[in-house]
Order: sequence, then structure tokens, then C-alpha cells
Amino acid sequence: MTPPLLLSLLLVAARCCRCCHGWSSFQKPAVTAVIAFGDSIVDPGNNNGLHTVIKANHPPYGKDLFNHEATGRYSNGLIPTDLIAQELGVKLLLPAYLGVDLSPEDLLTGVSFASGATGFDPLTPLVVSVISLEQQLAYFDEYRGKLVDIAGEDETARIIDGALFVVCAGTDDVANTYFTTPFRSAEYDIPSYVELLVGGAEEFLRNVSSRGARKIGFVGMPPVGCVPSQRTLGGGLARACEPKRNEAAQLYNARIQEMVADADRDLATTMVVFLDIYRVLDDLMERGDKYGFSETTRGCCGTGTIEVTGLCDSRFVSVCDNVSQHVFFDSYHPTERAYRIIVKDIFDNYGQVLIG
Ligand SMILES: *[C@@H]1O[C@H](CO)[C@@H](O)[C@H](O)[C@H]1NC(C)=O
Ligand SMILES: *[C@@H]1O[C@H](CO)[C@@H](O)[C@H](O)[C@H]1NC(C)=O
Repeated sequence: MTPPLLLSLLLVAARCCRCCHGWSSFQKPAVTAVIAFGDSIVDPGNNNGLHTVIKANHPPYGKDLFNHEATGRYSNGLIPTDLIAQELGVKLLLPAYLGVDLSPEDLLTGVSFASGATGFDPLTPLVVSVISLEQQLAYFDEYRGKLVDIAGEDETARIIDGALFVVCAGTDDVANTYFTTPFRSAEYDIPSYVELLVGGAEEFLRNVSSRGARKIGFVGMPPVGCVPSQRTLGGGLARACEPKRNEAAQLYNARIQEMVADADRDLATTMVVFLDIYRVLDDLMERGDKYGFSETTRGCCGTGTIEVTGLCDSRFVSVCDNVSQHVFFDSYHPTERAYRIIVKDIFDNYGQVLIG
């Protein structure tokens, strides 16, 4: 066997084995760990033990996960942080920090501190009794102490140094706090509320950077007016996209990109990259056919128009016949199949910067 053939066989083996247990021995991961902060898009179950209605640890959530287990992930299967950890060769699932049974190995390769329905507005987590971003940082500090206990100070510094941090929040501020409760809309118009969110996000980024993060992917806002529940609330009988929420999301994305560019320049040791997801989600909903989605405006759970968290519960509602045809699993969160397309788009557009 000639060496090039052997080499290419090894490469094939490494590629094939990214799908299954044991692949990490073939391939050096591109980062040391993945560490996530934010809301339900990246929460693998941190709300499970809280006294809140915002939970997904009951069927039909997780119905397509290994063992069909309702772990607390807000989808039928994997969520973006799992797919990111897989793509980077780190591990198959990014666990919840507050989950039970985390092994030392799980801790060493990263966790998620995210909490469904939290946001950059300090009022957002308070309204629904979930974990604020400030508290997520306090948990990170505790987590760092555990890493030191397991691996020592030098190795901990190396892990943090080589980790990809993911920050994903803001949607619940707009959809829930601003447009559904009266608390902020009485005092703030959309531009001033967006400034409040950008200020909170900036403070949070600086706090993450000061903890030694060198690489932060900052996820932008989706077209929040087009998610099924917001179409139901504000889209009239035709359930059109609700324009004011999309206007808020676009303004937020524009302002956040400026803030992220400034932070990237000012923070000498931290690279911050804005990850746009508005465009790909808009495309999934506008041109679903192109991706094999025949249902883009209703979730798979129940009627698909309102059911989310406590209302999306197998005891009360049924699920659609073919979840692969749906962009959304419940009235708010994408299906695993849609998440895969979104994460692929992120790596196509930003993979070089995130890994390089
Ligand atoms: C950032 O850190 C400061 C100082 O510790 C703290 O007062 C503030 O609440 C933190 N903000 C966020 C959003 O983490
Ligand atoms: C489910 O939908 C997907 C995507 O449209 C399609 O490829 C698949 O064949 C469907 N499965 C069944 C059982 O109908």
C-alpha cells in the first residue's frame, strides 16, 4: 500500500467516524471546549429544576433524540450548540451545566449555562423566573473553580483560552418582554428599547471577555415576527409575518453588529464575531420548498400556532406526521432539521474565522 493511499484511507476513516463514538481519537478538535450563554436556542435543560413554566423536559420534546429523551432541549432533537460541538470535533452533546451526572470529561470540554426565555433586558428573566445572564456568569465562575479542581490552574487556563464561547439571546426580550407584556412598551419605543438591549449585550460581552474568553461567536436575532406564535399574535387571519417585530430584529442586528465590531477592536485579547441567522431563517421560511420543507408557518406540536413549552405537552396535544417537513417544532423553536441547515450556514460563512 502506497503511503498516499494509506493517508487517504485514514482521512476517510477520520471523516466517517465524526458521526460516531470514538471519533475524537482520530481527529484533534478545532477548539478545546464549547461554552454557551443565552436562551432556549442554546439551553440543553438548565431550566429543568427551576420553578418556571419555561421548560421542555417532557414529551414530545426530544422525541428524535437518542433514547427519545426529553432532556430539556427545546426541539425534537439536537439544538445548535450540540451541532456546533460536533462540527468542531469536541463532542456529540453540549450538556446543561445544571444537569445531573456531569462527568469530569463533560466539564473539561464545555457546557451550556443558557436558560430558556432569558434575555439582555434584566426584566426578561425576572418575568418568567429563569436564569439571568449575570447569574449565568456566576455559574461560569463556579464552573471554572471545578475545572481547577479537576485539571489544575494551568490546564484550566489552556481550556478557557482555546474555547469557543457562544452567546445567543435577545429574541425573548423583543417577543415576550417588549411586545407581550406592558412593562417596557409604555416607556420605550423600538429604537430606545433596542439601545437598552445593545447596552446589556455589550456589558455582558465585556464581562465574558474579562473572564479570559478569546473567541466569542455572538448570534444575531432571527426574523422573530415570522415565528409561528408571533404570526398568531400579530399576523392577522392570514398569519402573516408581524412587521414591527421584524423591524425591531433588523434594527437590533444592525446596532449589535456595530457594537460587536467595536468590542472586537477594543478588547485586545478577545475576538468577537457576529453570526447572522436572520438571512438563512428568512430563506427557510420564504423558500421552504428549496430545502424540502412544506410547512414553514406552523410548528409540528399541536395546532402549531400557539403550543410552546408547557402547552406543547404530549398529554394534551399530538404531533405532526412528518417533523422533517416543518421548519418549526413548536410555535417558537426550529426543528433539528432546520437547526442543521442554520448551523451549516454559520460554518459556511464564519467557519474560517471561528476555527482559525
Ligand atoms: C457585568 O459585571 C459587572 C461587574 O461585576 C456587574 O455589575 C454587571 O451586572 C455584569 N453585567 C452582566 C450583564 O453580566
Ligand atoms: C418526510 O419529509 C421529508 C422531507 O420533505 C421527506 O424526505 C420524507 O420522505 C418524508 N417521510 C415520510 C415518511 O413521508
